[in-house]
Amino acid sequence: MIKQAIIPLAGQGTRLLPLTSIFAKELLPINGKPGIEYILDECIEAGIKEIIFIISKKKQLIKKYFYNDSFYKKIIKTKKDKRIKYEYEKIKKFKKMIKFVYQNKPMGTGDAVLKTKKFIKDKFFLMLLPDDLIIKRNCSKDMILVHKKYNCSVMASMNVKRNTVKRWGIYSKEKKINKNNFFIKDVVEKPEIKYAPSNSAVIGRYILSKDIFKKLNNQKKGKGGEIHITDSIKRLIESGHKIIGHNFSGKYLDCGTMKGYIKSSMEISKL
Ligand code: G1P
Repeated sequence: MIKQAIIPLAGQGTRLLPLTSIFAKELLPINGKPGIEYILDECIEAGIKEIIFIISKKKQLIKKYFYNDSFYKKIIKTKKDKRIKYEYEKIKKFKKMIKFVYQNKPMGTGDAVLKTKKFIKDKFFLMLLPDDLIIKRNCSKDMILVHKKYNCSVMASMNVKRNTVKRWGIYSKEKKINKNNFFIKDVVEKPEIKYAPSNSAVIGRYILSKDIFKKLNNQKKGKGGEIHITDSIKRLIESGHKIIGHNFSGKYLDCGTMKGYIKSSMEISKL
């Protein structure tokens, strides 16, 4: 069973400036609800029991959002508003599940994952990148089913336009398992078009084995001077680990860019 999920939240959100100049992008509302709550709902529905948030000192607002008890208690006492009570109960439920760890320097997703090393209890854990919302289908739940069947790591995959490969981690495929799943031969972080092995991109849902920490411990900086999880996954495959790429059903919404963020509210309002 996969019981723990980690969520890197220390990113600066530069693609969403000016909205993120003093605010955390994961708290920005998407159709009236903070983006992070969609991610938490996905985790809970997929059976996750503990969630580790990797934040930074600059993103303390995220912790405050879940620790504002005295404010809620005061309001509920004076207002007796059912809706507020319901929202507070929901936040309390989330808070019970969340642990916070810190990544104070923006050194990349791989570095963020490494910060959770001593908290991971089981052999496998789930990671969700909060910029990537997937609606209409619980991608984490589907990936956990694939993991259960093959007992290996699983990563979400989606076909993208060839001229956008430079924006993503890109897979090279080893062998098709069935319509929605394939074994990964290799993965490259944000390749130039001419070096891209396919147009299948990594989307932000990963079921990773604890073995990833051995690679992250000595992972060299990659593209843009950051420690990329993709580079450690690549080395894990090279040392014989089986990893499955899962073509998820459901609709992908890119909430990390301004255009995508605006579109995501519209898409969710149609549900
Ligand atoms: C990260 C990963 C990349 C992946 C992408 C999915 O990139 O490094 O491999 O394709 O998420 O959203 P970022 O969005 O942090 O630039």
